[in-house]
Amino acid sequence: MSHFSYQNGVLNAESTPLSRIAEEFGTPTYVYSKSALLQNFAAYSDACAGRDALVCYAMKANSNLAILDLLARQGAGFDIVSGGELLRVIAAGGDPNKVIFSGVGKTEAEMRLALEKNILCFNVESIPELHRLNEVAGSMGKRAPVSLRVNPNVDAKTHPYIATGLKANKFGVAFDDALATYRTAASLPHLDVVGIDCHIGSQLLDDAPLLEALDKLIELIDTLDSEGIHIHHLDIGGGLGVDYGAAGDKPPVPVGDYLGRLFARIDAWRTQRHDGRAVKVIFEPGRSIVASTGVLLTRVEFLKPGVEKNFCIIDAAMNDMMRPTLYGAWMDMKAVTPREGDAKSVYDIVGPVCESGDWLARERALAIEPGDLLAMMSAGAYGMTMASNYNTRGRPAEVIVDGDQVHLVRQRENPAELFALESMLK
Ligand code: LLP
Repeated sequence: MSHFSYQNGVLNAESTPLSRIAEEFGTPTYVYSKSALLQNFAAYSDACAGRDALVCYAMKANSNLAILDLLARQGAGFDIVSGGELLRVIAAGGDPNKVIFSGVGKTEAEMRLALEKNILCFNVESIPELHRLNEVAGSMGKRAPVSLRVNPNVDAKTHPYIATGLKANKFGVAFDDALATYRTAASLPHLDVVGIDCHIGSQLLDDAPLLEALDKLIELIDTLDSEGIHIHHLDIGGGLGVDYGAAGDKPPVPVGDYLGRLFARIDAWRTQRHDGRAVKVIFEPGRSIVASTGVLLTRVEFLKPGVEKNFCIIDAAMNDMMRPTLYGAWMDMKAVTPREGDAKSVYDIVGPVCESGDWLARERALAIEPGDLLAMMSAGAYGMTMASNYNTRGRPAEVIVDGDQVHLVRQRENPAELFALESMLK
């Protein structure tokens, strides 16, 4: 069931009309559905029930503290990419011991913080990073738990900006170099080799590339075993896509189907090996947990007929939602109160920012008037977290809807706050 549906002619989040939220909190505002969030997380946790598995939500997709808190209460761990994200997890009451630290450029300070907080594992992406981590851990009298992010050279068949598992990407250690890199890791005195991981890309609609990557990781775990390097967890990354609703798009494979196939392969492998050694499975999903959870609620400022195009100018802009201009992403735009029976015109939906790239949707047929509300659908992932203050625009407010209750979980930024950290020459 969609958690955003029309009731009495008005688009609702759960049982709250979006028009009521616009009146109370203004626009643009990110509106999230609590039950959608819990349902999306349950798709993973249900499929993992009874297994040694951990879902580490990739919080770069949406790191609002209230979202993190709700997920932590469901038992989620977190995939982080900065010290700042770790501090968010802790502020939200998440357990650092369920945190995986990914990313190619971890600083010494970030490593130190993560070691102090006893995170579950560092996903290391290069040999220089292994040496740095070894030194930092040694200086603290600790051993750092590490996993190597292996690049399985699998084509994830997604947008080049979000494909990460190919040889040409900056991420991970090349598959052919993995064994040698593991030997280096195992030889360093302040590191504990505990895992293996990969992340091949994002918005994958098919699970075949993910299962192909799994096979390559399994092959490597067996090779490592024969060298006396024992892997305790296998982290397959995130990447499962969502249905943004564009005409002709194929729907993504359901989470339960993907996890079912993945666990079947792992079980077959374990049975074949007969060594009884367990391997914990870790997932790092971001988009598939939060995208469908949210909409970006915005108001039409002006309609501007042009020579070649009609423009619908709204109060949200590229700085609030980067995905269309950055990736050419298609995101659905729905009228909150559709004008049934009125003639539609075709618009490019654009914001007030001074860039031609400031568009949120193109060539959409809508019957709208200035003052109407629009909802950009499936905007819960990589929306607010990628927003900027370009043009000294305060970022949107964020609210979470729970039935007919609306909770403000981030205030709208006001301009004075945007320059509060700046100063003039004395
Ligand atoms: N793990 C790692 C190491 C990652 O780099 C990512 C995403 C994830 C997990 C989560 O992937 P997901 O399940 O969300 O696909 N801004 C882009 C997406 C960038 C993804 C970056 N890495 C977008 O809006 O499409």
